[in-house]
Amino acid sequence: MKFIRSKIIGHGHYTPKKVLTNDDMAKIVDTNDEWITTRTGIKSRCVVEEEVNSDLSFHAAEMALKTAKISAQDINLIVLATITPDNTTPATAIRVGQKLGVKSGTPAFDLSAACSGFVYALTMADNMIRLGQVKTALVIGAETLSKVTDWTDRNTCVLFGDGAGAVVLQAVEENGTNQDIGILSTKIFADGNNYDHLKTTGGVSTTQTTGFITMDGKEVFKAAIGCLAQAAEEAAQIAGINVKDIDWLLPHQANIRIIDGVGKKLELPEEKVIVNIAPHGNTSAASIPLALSEKITDGTIKKGDLIILTAMGAGFTWGGAVIRL
Ligand code: ACO
Repeated sequence: MKFIRSKIIGHGHYTPKKVLTNDDMAKIVDTNDEWITTRTGIKSRCVVEEEVNSDLSFHAAEMALKTAKISAQDINLIVLATITPDNTTPATAIRVGQKLGVKSGTPAFDLSAACSGFVYALTMADNMIRLGQVKTALVIGAETLSKVTDWTDRNTCVLFGDGAGAVVLQAVEENGTNQDIGILSTKIFADGNNYDHLKTTGGVSTTQTTGFITMDGKEVFKAAIGCLAQAAEEAAQIAGINVKDIDWLLPHQANIRIIDGVGKKLELPEEKVIVNIAPHGNTSAASIPLALSEKITDGTIKKGDLIILTAMGAGFTWGGAVIRL
């Protein structure tokens, strides 16, 4: 019997040209390279100048279409995970579709799940593909976090960066086993009891401003390793695979100590854990697709590799996915 899976047929990434190193940050707030590096693993971050979210998304999407060897006209759905859209409405996904030149009528929407946004977006697109509603989907994670960063707050401003990553998913017929190519499972979670631990100080409905990111770093840290490990383990269980059999764990890039902690909790050797936080910082919804595309591009992640994605962010939200590339 035929079994529809979503296969990743293209990948793309883009970061703005302007780079702020830790030494640059030390000129903005009372901090230093040693503190930032040892506590977070971050060495620099990219920040937008004139560009907006849809520009970053467009470049990442353009590369994804190119590597997929398809045209924008072949896209049947755009899902864009972000907490930093161009406008409150319409959705930035619609602007990206317009810039790419997708067919009129192609559905497009934004999805807000903070740092778990890409895993959530992948889940939505995968489900629509497996239901037969769309054949080819563009899934983007993109952020301009520099626009919701309080540049006077050293507790947060050193952590975040701007960027975008994208994948093209396409329906393929597989056997329905754990040996299939494509997305083998997804699992998403949320718990509003942690709403206040990580949030912006404002919003459309409360202050009519976007506000700035604030967080209780210790509370986030405490919860993060458990959430990331749980999402990875549950996604593996649904896919019918063993965590120890994967080629790569690709965790949300929030903090090197969180990444190391989840690798240890899952008893994975360091070499199997993808880390690219040093040049980017935490790019929220962009972090996973940015790392995925960079590591496919440089040849680290190869066709046929078995990968677990795992993410956690404001809400809290968290989620995992198992993919055979
Ligand atoms: N430079 C220098 N000193 C700093 C800085 C900085 N940029 N930021 C804070 N400090 C100071 C603090 O003021 C404090 O000083 P004090 O003791 O005089 O009050 C001291 O450093 C220690 O601060 P702590 O908060 O105890 O530092 P901690 O070891 O907890 O590290 C950090 C802070 C890195 C934020 C950590 O809590 C963390 O990683 N939390 C996870 C949060 C995270 O990654 N969030 C990203 C978004 S959430 C997500 O993506 C899942």
